[in-house]
Amino acid sequence: MQVKDKIVIVTGAGSGIGAATAKHFAKHHATVIVSDIKEEKAKTTVEQIKQEGGKAVVITANVAKYEDVEQLISETVSQFGQLDVIVNNAGIGPRNMSKTAEYTLEDWDSVIAVNQTGVFYCMKLALQQMMKQGSGNIVNIASLAGLKASLNNLSYCASKFAVVGMTKSAALEYATKNIRINAVCPGYTESALLSKLLSVRPDMDDMLKSVIPMKRYGQAEEIAEAVVWLASENTKFITGQTITLDGGTSL
Ligand SMILES: NC(=O)c1ccc[n+]([C@@H]2O[C@H](COP(=O)([O-])OP(=O)(O)OC[C@H]3O[C@@H](n4cnc5c(N)ncnc54)[C@H](O)[C@@H]3O)[C@@H](O)[C@H]2O)c1
Repeated sequence: MQVKDKIVIVTGAGSGIGAATAKHFAKHHATVIVSDIKEEKAKTTVEQIKQEGGKAVVITANVAKYEDVEQLISETVSQFGQLDVIVNNAGIGPRNMSKTAEYTLEDWDSVIAVNQTGVFYCMKLALQQMMKQGSGNIVNIASLAGLKASLNNLSYCASKFAVVGMTKSAALEYATKNIRINAVCPGYTESALLSKLLSVRPDMDDMLKSVIPMKRYGQAEEIAEAVVWLASENTKFITGQTITLDGGTSL
């Protein structure tokens, strides 16, 4: 995949899909800025990339804080001179799964702040830099929950529908500017996020697998493959699209 020498930020790259994506970019000879709210986790991803001979640095940022995202983009540009790709992956789920009437204000606010407003901050500030350069590529990590209803999970579902909407709207705005913006919509994928859900509701394991036609969860590396492909020079005519990777669940 053609991402050699690209300067790539991956948010939430200390774990799961973000870590797998950072490693996949590095494997294809991109330079990766591994960003996460948790510095230790980001450092681990960078060490793993370096052990494989790849290029990566840590820049810590909480995507829900505008000043952190400003710092992330400006430090990237001062260290590497440009920003070719940003993968907006950082995301969280609610503490409690509950119906809308019982949904806590805390679960509403925290999830929207990271998953929706965080993606807006990253897109806004990355696009300012990409417009200066005259090129760029954004891949947002949405979810199957951004395409269809999701039970007892209102803020997560709302935030991921928003990510799909932001992807399409911004793609239209920048289509003539040599900037492409796409999203991937993973179904249930093995990661800390899924483990957390299953630790609270172990009964959901069989239930979830029963609704996946392939009868297994996705692997973070399988999602990473699609992200790097969308960010690469191999997909120059694709913008504003969502690619669903869900083992057939949406069928
Ligand atoms: N795992 C799944 O089944 C699944 C399915 C669909 C979509 N997704 C989406 O994929 C993305 C990655 O999820 P994952 O499953 O790899 O989860 P994960 O919990 O393994 O990783 C998320 C990472 O984001 C970081 N993070 C959390 N809040 C942050 C913040 N405010 N700023 C910066 N970093 C922050 C965490 O420290 C963590 O390293 C999320 O957007 C998630 O909604 C996951």
